[in-house]
Amino acid sequence: MIAKTEEDFNGLKEIGRIVAFIRDELVQRTTPGTTTKELDDIAGELFEKEGALSAPKNEYNFPGYTCISVNEEVAHGIPGDRVIHEGDLVNIDVSGSKNGYFADTGISFVVGEGEEVLTKICYVAKKAFEEGLKKAKPGSKKSGIGKVVYQTAKQHGLTVIKNLTGHGIGRTIHEAPDHIYNYKETWDDELLKEGMVIAFEPFISTFEEEVFQLEDGWTYATEKSYVAQLEHTIILTKNGPIIITL
Ligand code: CO
Ligand code: CO
Repeated sequence: MIAKTEEDFNGLKEIGRIVAFIRDELVQRTTPGTTTKELDDIAGELFEKEGALSAPKNEYNFPGYTCISVNEEVAHGIPGDRVIHEGDLVNIDVSGSKNGYFADTGISFVVGEGEEVLTKICYVAKKAFEEGLKKAKPGSKKSGIGKVVYQTAKQHGLTVIKNLTGHGIGRTIHEAPDHIYNYKETWDDELLKEGMVIAFEPFISTFEEEVFQLEDGWTYATEKSYVAQLEHTIILTKNGPIIITL
């Protein structure tokens, strides 16, 4: 959507605050021995308490309030009896709506002490997010964001996932612009607009560049790569992007 009125900005900031709060709460509760379902149940309670709705559940009939992906799972992992272990790479992605406004946020992190490469990809995902943010200006080419995400990955001897992308958001969970790529898509000449609301989510990978879907019909995974994501919903303005999911 294009945010124009004060009502738009306030509505977006409210749901942004809620999904960020649920994300942080779940990250904090991700300890060895916990199952992903236990974490998701906490999210369900918090959504209700905040008077907000889970987007995956309400918009797509996803079997969970949040997407929780562990190790070889990259995105859209279904909460279940999988037990979290020390050293696991976990991604928690929380999206929801309130009063007709939507926000989406996600983070990858290592539980306790883990392999060094896991810490590295999480760091590079953050770095790529920061670099992309600098290019998120009204009037600039959308593909400029992907260009710096890709460059950042390569500078660290890593790469990106090419078939998962960021997206427009605001009045629904996925809307125009449909794709914010993690690399420079040469035919993409779309320009970013004042007030445009996007979910920007770089995916940094150790070597594979595509995910595939598991037989459960939801989970995206890699064969052997580790992948880290960082996602925030941002409103583009001429005075700089406003991150509503900090
Ligand atoms: Co998300
Ligand atoms: Co998203």
